[in-house]
Amino acid sequence: MANVRFDAVRKVYPNGHVGVAGASFDVADGELLVLVGPSGCGKSTLLRMVAGLEAITSGTLSIGGRVVNDVAPKDRDIAMVFQSYALYPHMSVAENLAFGLKLRGQPKAEIAARVAEAAQMLELGAVLDRKPGQLSGGQRQRVALGRALVRQPQVFLLDEPLSNLDAKLRSGMRVEIARLHRKLGTTMIYVTHDQIEAMTLGQRIVVFRDGEIQQIDTPMALYEQPDNLFVATFLGSPAMNVLRGTLQRDAAGEGGGWRFVVDDGLSLALGAAPLPGDWHGRTLDLGIRPEHLQPTGHGDAALSPLVEVVEPVGSEVFVNLRIGDHALVARLPPERVPVPGETLPLRIPVERVHFFDIDTGTRLAH
Ligand SMILES: Nc1ncnc2c1ncn2[C@@H]1O[C@H](COP(=O)(O)OP(=O)(O)OP(=O)(O)O)[C@@H](O)[C@H]1O
Ligand SMILES: [Mg+2]
Repeated sequence: MANVRFDAVRKVYPNGHVGVAGASFDVADGELLVLVGPSGCGKSTLLRMVAGLEAITSGTLSIGGRVVNDVAPKDRDIAMVFQSYALYPHMSVAENLAFGLKLRGQPKAEIAARVAEAAQMLELGAVLDRKPGQLSGGQRQRVALGRALVRQPQVFLLDEPLSNLDAKLRSGMRVEIARLHRKLGTTMIYVTHDQIEAMTLGQRIVVFRDGEIQQIDTPMALYEQPDNLFVATFLGSPAMNVLRGTLQRDAAGEGGGWRFVVDDGLSLALGAAPLPGDWHGRTLDLGIRPEHLQPTGHGDAALSPLVEVVEPVGSEVFVNLRIGDHALVARLPPERVPVPGETLPLRIPVERVHFFDIDTGTRLAH
């Protein structure tokens, strides 16, 4: 087992494109760290640098305290699982699992023992004689995992290993990977663009955008205290509601109520919110998560949007709302399902509101 340390690790492709703009962070020994971000943000580039499949332009990468910038992939003691499985089609499952070990000249008995262990752990015992073409997608993915497992590496690298699976299988395999990690205790770096996968699997998550780290923290800390608007809207489904407007304090002065004026048709009453006095007149982005919009009586509603579309998902209901030009989503318990066409008076608990600087996107403390 080993930790992985990134120190200003940067990748510039030969055509000048900056894949990773300089990343510094540590993956602890035994940690399951998830790297998440939209397509093209540089996740695979970063992982491939750890694997040694991509040269590092500058900075230092260490595995287990050893600088590996110039160490060949096969000498890094890592194993990588790809989205595309990359199984050998003409070999049986057992041969696929054994292949890497054979190549390294491991003794036959040792290979057999490791293959048997991996097959048992991943429940592949019944399909060891089949070819990959005779397996389901989930079984193929398990063989790909097994092939990494038998190597007993210091670090596992997984690049979108579940994205070829259907939704149900994916959530099943997610649990399996978490279980595997708990059992083995091996350091894992897991790349995905799926924020649900990141939230459910990661002990810590690195949020990536355009080659740059946005924030590193535990899933709940990222969700509750996002550093900026990008992190706030990337994590969470449905996404956080965002409105741009100007804060105004009623003439009543100190202790008076605050309003957030979006436009002529929409002005949110925030009540006697404990906001810095000098925010009066400031234009900001206001963010509120769908689960924090609270149905209320007409008397103390901050806004009364029109219900447009209702999406019941069983355990809860996503209610798509419209007010003027603005679309919002509320996430409500299934007890009372609103009907399209009705107005839904909502309260905005100010302690649940986030404010973001409109130029930098930085979340402002209040
Ligand atoms: N060999 C290359 N030469 C130039 N640019 C490249 C090369 N390989 C990748 N890129 C670019 O670098 C950026 C990061 O690519 P990367 O594959 O790391 O993204 P990603 O986050 O893994 O995306 P996805 O979620 O789609 O897999 C992309 O804009 C990509 O087009
Ligand atoms: Mg990728």
